[in-house]
Amino acid sequence: MGKLLDGKAVVVTGGGRGLGEAFATHIARAGGSVLVNDIDGELADAAAATIREAGGVAVASGHSVADPAQAQEIVELCVKEFGAIDGLVNNAGLNYEALPWEDDAAQARELIEVNVLGVMYTGMAAVKAMMAGGGGSIVNISSGASLGQRKLGVYAASKGAVASLTYSWALDLEDAGIRVNAVCPLAHTRMVWKSERSLRACPPDRTPARIAPLVSFLLGPGSEGITGQMIRCNGPQLHVMGQPFLKAPILERESWDTETVQRAFDEVFNAHLENYGLEKRVPPLLRKWTDTTRSA
Ligand SMILES: NC(=O)c1ccc[n+]([C@@H]2O[C@H](COP(=O)([O-])OP(=O)(O)OC[C@H]3O[C@@H](n4cnc5c(N)ncnc54)[C@H](O)[C@@H]3O)[C@@H](O)[C@H]2O)c1
Repeated sequence: MGKLLDGKAVVVTGGGRGLGEAFATHIARAGGSVLVNDIDGELADAAAATIREAGGVAVASGHSVADPAQAQEIVELCVKEFGAIDGLVNNAGLNYEALPWEDDAAQARELIEVNVLGVMYTGMAAVKAMMAGGGGSIVNISSGASLGQRKLGVYAASKGAVASLTYSWALDLEDAGIRVNAVCPLAHTRMVWKSERSLRACPPDRTPARIAPLVSFLLGPGSEGITGQMIRCNGPQLHVMGQPFLKAPILERESWDTETVQRAFDEVFNAHLENYGLEKRVPPLLRKWTDTTRSA
């Protein structure tokens, strides 16, 4: 019997360790040929060698996704080795915690260059090759942090950008037969080990291998017709993420001055403020109604 990804050539960025390595391994077991990319070239080599030893097809690349020329080379290497690129898993990423007043401009730039520009550069190169080949599937790795998390402003913003890119490219690429979805994972990796808070939120049984079947599904034919979606898997839970949209009521008048904006809030919007962040924090203005220790 044929396997799920037989005949598919897939690039996995940041595939030398953690989630990326688990994705690459699963894709290879499912019959796909994998280009295992990681800026740590030795890790990429080792992951590709392990796949080959297990009977799979894999080659390694030590390029950085944060450089547009190198991102192009990753895609070209896949096409050269396997004759096509059918799938791209945009997984390479950096993470650090910092409060806004302690954050560092150089560190913020480095993160955005990998998590946002790296996804764009590799995606742009892949899309051209996929269009020439008649279609494909892109799986971007976003995060529940995209909803907003304490001490993770820059990382959260980078993953929010990945979500917006996913929705936009899904619209642009549907007619070209290229599907674009995002996965929000949770799993024990280096990224989690270095944060006490993340470690508390991640029970020991949450292995990267538990997320991999979702990624292979999104690359494979069973997910035909599914695009523009953010799907979260944390091990036991699997669900679609809701997408933000324009919220009713939408008030209209010819123009708004400060006074009428104030009235709009006093009379209407103060009752429609949203809880915010992954923790769903109640806005201070409404807290008197929800905090049972205080009287309204
Ligand atoms: N671990 C989690 O719970 C979790 C949660 C949400 C999202 N994510 C996302 O999943 C992805 C994988 O993270 P992980 O947890 O496996 O982390 P990880 O640190 O174990 O792996 C990330 C890999 O990306 C590689 N990398 C970094 N910069 C690169 C570059 N410029 N070019 C190529 N490769 C590069 C690293 O060398 C590393 O091997 C990331 O995008 C991360 O933001 C992880």
